[in-house]
Amino acid sequence: MTDYYLCPLAHDDITAISAIERRAHSSPWSDTQLAAPTGRFDHAYGLHLMQPHALLIGYFYARCVAGEGELLNIAIEPTYQGQGWGSILLEAMIKRLNEAGAESIWLEVRESNIAAQVLYQKYGFKPVSRRKHYYACADGRREDAWVMQKIAD
Ligand SMILES: CC(C)(COP(=O)(O)OP(=O)(O)OC[C@H]1O[C@@H](n2cnc3c(N)ncnc32)[C@H](O)[C@@H]1OP(=O)(O)O)[C@@H](O)C(=O)NCCC(=O)NCCS
Repeated sequence: MTDYYLCPLAHDDITAISAIERRAHSSPWSDTQLAAPTGRFDHAYGLHLMQPHALLIGYFYARCVAGEGELLNIAIEPTYQGQGWGSILLEAMIKRLNEAGAESIWLEVRESNIAAQVLYQKYGFKPVSRRKHYYACADGRREDAWVMQKIAD
């Protein structure tokens, strides 16, 4: 695995993030939603490879308010998926939110998104409830969400 570093998202990253977002998600965030957050509760980081030069291959958006953390978005560029990068990113997200005082971390995931559920379970997230018809699908149907929670170690 090549060397990498994590860096807070900057405005200049939005073009690269937007391209990954549209390739990785079936219902991508808009560029407005992706615009680098500036709120004091926000934690948004990009994962960069040292080689090729500082290439951004993934990111997460999370926040922590009053001891409650929430993962809002996480993605790895599809050509780099399945190589351990998502695990590195999720582990970094958990560490940042714990440092920010999170006693628990919440997230929502599509019922059909097995890759993400396997990743989350690997890091101690457990399904706690189900939201019926929460997500829109490309074919016009709706899909359930699992709400998952991890209690701080
Ligand atoms: C979810 C995502 C971030 C995972 O990133 P990744 O780089 O592929 O993850 P990793 O390679 O670190 O794999 C993590 C674990 O997931 C499992 N996994 C990966 N792809 C899988 C798949 N297609 N099916 C089942 N399990 C899978 C692996 O078994 C791995 O565990 P292991 O280390 O014990 O082998 C990535 O697939 C992604 O960006 N998906 C699109 C966006 C998305 O769905 N985001 C989450 C929204 S809730």
